[in-house]
Amino acid sequence: MEEANPTRAAEADERQTYVLRLRADNDRHAMETGRRRRAFFLTFGCQQNEADSEKLAGMAQQMGYDITRTPEDADLITVNTCAVREHAEQKALSTVGQYKHLKAKNPDLVIAMCGCMVSQPHRVEEIKHRYPYVDFVFGTGSLHRFPQLLCERREKNKRLYCPEEPSLTVAEGIPVRRESDYRAWVSIMYGCNNFCSYCIVPYVRGRERSREPERIIEEVRELVADGYRDITLLGQNVNSYGKGTRAGWDFADLLAALDRIDGDFRLRFMTSHPKDASRKLIDVMASSRHVAHQFHLPLQSGSDAVLARMNRRYDTARYLETLDYLREKIPDVTVTTDIIVGFPGETDEDFAGTLAMLERARYDMIFSFIYSPRKGTPAAEMADQVPDEIRHARFDRLLALQNRIGLEKNQSLVGVPMRVLCDGPSKNNPALMSGRTDGNKIAFFEGNPDDAGTYVLFRANRADAFALWGERIPE
Ligand code: 5AD
Ligand code: SF4
Repeated sequence: MEEANPTRAAEADERQTYVLRLRADNDRHAMETGRRRRAFFLTFGCQQNEADSEKLAGMAQQMGYDITRTPEDADLITVNTCAVREHAEQKALSTVGQYKHLKAKNPDLVIAMCGCMVSQPHRVEEIKHRYPYVDFVFGTGSLHRFPQLLCERREKNKRLYCPEEPSLTVAEGIPVRRESDYRAWVSIMYGCNNFCSYCIVPYVRGRERSREPERIIEEVRELVADGYRDITLLGQNVNSYGKGTRAGWDFADLLAALDRIDGDFRLRFMTSHPKDASRKLIDVMASSRHVAHQFHLPLQSGSDAVLARMNRRYDTARYLETLDYLREKIPDVTVTTDIIVGFPGETDEDFAGTLAMLERARYDMIFSFIYSPRKGTPAAEMADQVPDEIRHARFDRLLALQNRIGLEKNQSLVGVPMRVLCDGPSKNNPALMSGRTDGNKIAFFEGNPDDAGTYVLFRANRADAFALWGERIPE
């Protein structure tokens, strides 16, 4: 497609020059040695990072690399990092440490780090000084400069730290190497303007910017034509999609337009912010053909005082209004949430509020996190950081309660026929197939590995808090 924006078109041309230069070098290497160079990608964090890595892999392939799943075989290792919690950062650093010795065996090896962790200046400094075997580093706003950085690293033999660009635009036209041939991620917007007081994302992914709807519609249409069955629209806050686009659409408009695409597929989206989840959006979902009956609505805390300090800009009453409307319009909707325990100043009473919200909202599943102070965020400076033992004790109580609720919710589905998109043999028990219901529940059943990527009809005869077990039934 023609690039309408001249700056972006120039960027794309420049990118292509580097791609071709590296491709020539990689082809020459393959001719001389009889072995093609290989690239390995390791991804930490959320789906947005998974989607970014698929773009990096797409560019690597264009540059003449084969993709490998084993770091020991690789000539290029790229670690795509997460910064949302301390644990994710430590894991990325220790993993990259394990790659150091690979350079002794393969002096040609290039190691790169990218993503949210290295979009923080203090981490870049740390890598510069303590991880000398990391060849180049680039932040989330510089994803499209991967070919240039790699090219310069290979040609100049100098370590590179790409200065973070306050990316105001959206790079289009980057090739994508998708991990699956029936499930796909489609980024619809990047960045976040919300500045929840605990969260690093607005600092490392920059301000909100949305892709033009026609680009998204075109991408989804192509995916459906290529046989993709399950398409997840991604953004840090999809509900505020559309600001600054030429079309001036909101997220509900986009979803309605995508729903008009013909074909046998499901649309999902994440993540929503409760303050922006509109009735209009729920109405579009309720009357749609393709939108899955699934909603991820992060609550974070069941205490209004904590929500205010988190800068979430809704209270529990308003949250429940949205949830009740959602369940009224889509009674079989699967609802999931995120909860943080041990936010600074969280009292026993605040935490009791969170437990009470779980009882009231009856989530199908929750993603719960122990609060992790993030350098540079307001919450990290707040007084009354909750002691570790209390945070852990609350975390355990939260899980115990949710295990009961999740079990009850799943048990209520036993006996109900459901469509499942089969993923092939289960990793833990290859004798069984695993798949996902339209509500995104995990289902296990006896079946045929060839069914991967197709819909089957399924009925559960047993459930636990996390999955359904059952059998295929005739269509
Ligand atoms: N500590 C713990 N959990 C966090 N999250 C975001 N920032 C933090 C933090 N500093 C959680 C929120 C968010 C999810 C993706 O990660 O619950 O919704
Ligand atoms: Fe972080 Fe809040 Fe933005 Fe989500 S909405 S990415 S929690 S700042």
